[in-house]
Amino acid sequence: MSSHDKIAVIDFGGQYAHLIATKVRRLSVLAEILQPEDRAEAFAPFKGIILSGSPALSAYDEDSAYDKRIFDLPIPILGFCFGHQEIAKHYGGQVEHTQREYGPAILEIRGQSPIFKGLGPEETVWMSHGDTVTVLPPGFQEVGISLAAKDAPPHRNAAIASEAMRRYGFQYHPEVDDTLNGEAMLRNFVVDICGCRQDWTMDLFGEEEGARLREKAGGRGVFLLASGGVDSTVCAVLLGRALGPRQVHLLHIDNGLMRKGESAQVVAEFHKRGLGENLHFADASGRFLGALEGVVEPEKKRRIIGDTFIDVFRDEASRLDLSGCLLAQGTIYPDTVETGGTRRADTIKTHHNRVPVIEEMIRQGLVVEPLAELYKVEVRELGEALGLPEDLVWRHPFPGPGLGIRLLCSDGVPTEAAPDAGDALKRVLEPLGLHGGILPVRSVGVKADLRSYEQPVMIWGGLPWSGAEALAARVFQEVPGVNRCAVDLTGKGFSTARPLAATVTRERLDLLREADALVMEGLRRHGLYRTVWQCPTVLVPLELDGRGREFVVIRPVLSERAMTARPALLPPALLEELRDAIMALPGVSGAAVDVTTKPPGTIEWE
Ligand code: XMP
Repeated sequence: MSSHDKIAVIDFGGQYAHLIATKVRRLSVLAEILQPEDRAEAFAPFKGIILSGSPALSAYDEDSAYDKRIFDLPIPILGFCFGHQEIAKHYGGQVEHTQREYGPAILEIRGQSPIFKGLGPEETVWMSHGDTVTVLPPGFQEVGISLAAKDAPPHRNAAIASEAMRRYGFQYHPEVDDTLNGEAMLRNFVVDICGCRQDWTMDLFGEEEGARLREKAGGRGVFLLASGGVDSTVCAVLLGRALGPRQVHLLHIDNGLMRKGESAQVVAEFHKRGLGENLHFADASGRFLGALEGVVEPEKKRRIIGDTFIDVFRDEASRLDLSGCLLAQGTIYPDTVETGGTRRADTIKTHHNRVPVIEEMIRQGLVVEPLAELYKVEVRELGEALGLPEDLVWRHPFPGPGLGIRLLCSDGVPTEAAPDAGDALKRVLEPLGLHGGILPVRSVGVKADLRSYEQPVMIWGGLPWSGAEALAARVFQEVPGVNRCAVDLTGKGFSTARPLAATVTRERLDLLREADALVMEGLRRHGLYRTVWQCPTVLVPLELDGRGREFVVIRPVLSERAMTARPALLPPALLEELRDAIMALPGVSGAAVDVTTKPPGTIEWE
């Protein structure tokens, strides 16, 4: 099938192997994930092997089960963390539970190994281990030691190499973004040491996936739910290329929770791409809003949106008579794994991509997921390779439940702050000449990997934007029961804030759509749309000092994979424009910009 040079990654658990494979593919070299149970013969077609780390296994405790004959193969091998320790152990070194290291460390490079070509003498690397290689195996050199900080005691054998055997081990994780030059280290191994040609591109991925789709579908139709987001759109275009428009049935459901004008745009876009032949549109907004009537609790809203979606999907599928069709899904890799901080998002995505009806179809072999191995950034590259316009490829991720989770609801009962929270906030702000107040509502956040459901703080009084993130961090440290910090855009602050009873209504959604459209246009106008990962606009039903009904929060974030995030600093000119335009909308009581990192806040407010 594939004539590309390729690297095998042995998956010892967790998410490491996928991330390694992704990083290798970013070097334009094909990487495939193999399992510990695979026999050594299966590795013969590869130009090199990478042994992943493992969150569960310990090279010290166990005689790990995989085919050790891989070490007899005449191809280079590189191991990370657990994989590094396995290499050391196999060649006669020793691994012990002695020193732990977590987080960033300084790697001091020793000697002139080709694995560190162009790097050093000091590199920032990311550690997460409790076992250490304490005795270097014969024939190996220590090519790096690590230090937690400049004057800390060194950890030996942080990087080891046998140039003669072409065996290498890193105690740290070069695949994570926090190892700043991890990509260069991987490149040295994959390209220089293994000699892989860098000829695997997203174009080829598209062609190869297309061929697989043709083979799987045969003459059958393929049905795809097309929300208009990047993933489903790239998937639709890939299907269209592979099978021709006649075989591709698209269904776009308007759940009433989309952005302003979005459904019409999505339908128009598919027509423009030649996929209009079997394009179906269902306006189910009435059904969704009906199901959400009177509901306040965020988790309940999510459940209702997810369940209604499945009901509508079922009804539409039987109306369109899609028996005999395959179901395609634009599932991407992070959708299928447990992702720590975003576990909640997964539960909801489970609603859409892994509900019982769909799981049954998967068991029957009726589901295709051509993007299932890719991360968002790769889906975007594939979209570009398929000729999709930049505007669409860089569209911000939009959650399945849409504006439904950005329209906060309330029963009108104020949330009481912790007794000493107000004083603690004053103690932080007053010495800086700033003011603040705790809002009498709650919003979702995440602390130590667990969901928190705590209160937001609003700050005003001439705070320099560059200091906002650090100030927020202090507030979280010192004020109990708080998980978000927003800076007032009007500068007026408030003395009384009162939550109003509010649920999901068309009128509130329309207001949110207007505010959201202003924010999106503003980001585009200032050339910031692509830099910012996502920028939810949130409506909170709050009256401030007797004014208005809706408090508007803008949440611009920078992120790579949405598991963690930092607030994006928007230019003051844009913030002023947004403040004026948003405050002019009817019923708006105030406007603020969220400056919270994730954790402790999530990206969405809910
Ligand atoms: P949080 O709010 O947990 O969000 O920081 C992380 C990322 O996930 C998105 N998100 C969702 N995506 N269905 C989705 O498809 C959901 O229910 C959902 N909830 C959150 C969110 O927009 C962000 O990109």
